[in-house]
Amino acid sequence: MNSIIPSFHYSKLIKPFQITLLFFVGCQANPPAEITDPGQLLFLGYARKEVNCSRCHSPDGQGGLDAPDIRAVFKKYDEEKIMNIIELGKGEGKKAMPPFEGKITEEELTELLKFLKTLPMPDSLEN
Ligand code: HEC
Repeated sequence: MNSIIPSFHYSKLIKPFQITLLFFVGCQANPPAEITDPGQLLFLGYARKEVNCSRCHSPDGQGGLDAPDIRAVFKKYDEEKIMNIIELGKGEGKKAMPPFEGKITEEELTELLKFLKTLPMPDSLEN
């Protein structure tokens, strides 16, 4: 049966619109208005496209498929060591963290550390 709506409506009008919409949703070019912390913007990949910690460690630092939970990292290492890990990377092979030296300024590194300190602790490590 022939549809009342001519088929070109979908292909010529709706489809390009959907693709455009997907493009914007997928890229997340602009951060949500409530996120203004420079360290958090870096962590989430909004400040610099080559710096995105959340794609491995998840937006709340809980860790993801291949990256560990880093919410309690200040209980494990001192600041110097953490800065070192971010600059030089950690681990080997496929499951390694890439180095960020040269991709991030000293100032940004400080902002990033400040943000890491605000991540809520896992329940098991509270107190
Ligand atoms: C490509 C994935 C990936 C990205 C992107 C990434 N990390 Fe990692 N990160 C890892 C992995 C994997 C480890 C664990 C390495 C190991 O111990 O072998 C790790 C470890 C760490 C550690 C040490 C954790 C511990 O307990 O030893 C810190 C701190 C850290 N990452 C912070 C960051 C920050 C901050 C960023 C953004 C600038 C970032 N990571 C980006 C994958 C990533």
